[in-house]
Amino acid sequence: MQLDPEDERILAGEEGETRQKLLELLVALGKVFGAERLVPIKSAQVSGASYKTIGKYGLEWLNSLDAKAVVPAVLNPIGMARTRWEEMGIDPDFAAKQQAVVAAYERLGIRLDCTCTPYYLYETRYGDHLAWSESSAVCYANSVIGARTNREGGPSALAAAIIGKTPCYGLHLGKNRLPQMVIDVHADTAKWTIADYGALGYHAGKIVGNRIPYFRGITPGADSLKAIGAAMAATGAVALYHVEGVTPEAQKNRYDLSGIEAVPVEQAEITRLFSDIPVDAVALGCPHCSPAELQEIARLLVGNIVTKPLYVFAAQGVIDKNARIVDNIEKSGARVFADTCMVVSPVMEQYGSVMVNSGKALAYVPNMCGGKARIGTLEDCIRVATE
Ligand code: F3S
Repeated sequence: MQLDPEDERILAGEEGETRQKLLELLVALGKVFGAERLVPIKSAQVSGASYKTIGKYGLEWLNSLDAKAVVPAVLNPIGMARTRWEEMGIDPDFAAKQQAVVAAYERLGIRLDCTCTPYYLYETRYGDHLAWSESSAVCYANSVIGARTNREGGPSALAAAIIGKTPCYGLHLGKNRLPQMVIDVHADTAKWTIADYGALGYHAGKIVGNRIPYFRGITPGADSLKAIGAAMAATGAVALYHVEGVTPEAQKNRYDLSGIEAVPVEQAEITRLFSDIPVDAVALGCPHCSPAELQEIARLLVGNIVTKPLYVFAAQGVIDKNARIVDNIEKSGARVFADTCMVVSPVMEQYGSVMVNSGKALAYVPNMCGGKARIGTLEDCIRVATE
């Protein structure tokens, strides 16, 4: 692997033991995957932020490190809202341990936003190289923005944040970003909502697995693209997809699709995912809400009071910039939490069934929270929460 003089200095320990060890980790990873060099990154998103995931030994490892991130970096969602954990009914002992993990990352120069939507917090552009961890964020960055990131593990994303580089392999290389199958959607998508696109992602992920799909027959907007990718990364292992005429690389390139497997998806396959099972609570914001989604939730809640628990999740930076909208949502009795989500927080475990407008949450709530999940449009979710 080709290293520049600065890398050699770091590897020789001239910039401290932490930077030395973390660069060794990146070089070892690069060698495993055949990377020829390291590539500078614009930002990192670090998983392994929940105490539930990393535990005592992970925390000890973080505390043993002594260096600072050299690029903007945020954390993945954790098990609780950092400032409103009591309101979520979180156990004080768990909260103290979680705060210790967050403090350890803060000492390493990681921004304390804990979110799967870092693209709302710092500018991410076409062609940027990144080291992001969370599967929906990775899929959005690669597909919707046209940036380049592999799906990093927590230690490799942290190492990349501190070194400012990542091994250049996988989706960092243009030759690995070509479509590998076609999904032809036959449906009246003009009427589709974000939830329909989430359901499409839920269905398509099972067909696609870990290949790179190329969609035809859909024209989703940014939030719908977010929903497709998140769901495909959950039911499959999709880290990049293209949509004809919509996503940036599909607009820029003319792909040769001859000889590639093409699978049709019919409206009925999407419709059957929507049910009307009774629910105990409603949860929105998987992935974390965009400003436009918060605005739409607030609009639908005007004049309404919730009769069922309604949780909304978004990045702290997005909440802060949309404080009036968030206040309006909370006037209905709904709660808008940062730093955590319906899947990683234990808060949803108390409900037997949860309504969501996300294909990813439809896949994960039953597995991770133990209850049933029902997908519906945002309008239906608000109606059910307030009827
Ligand atoms: Fe984000 Fe949690 Fe969904 S991390 S994508 S809100 S499962």
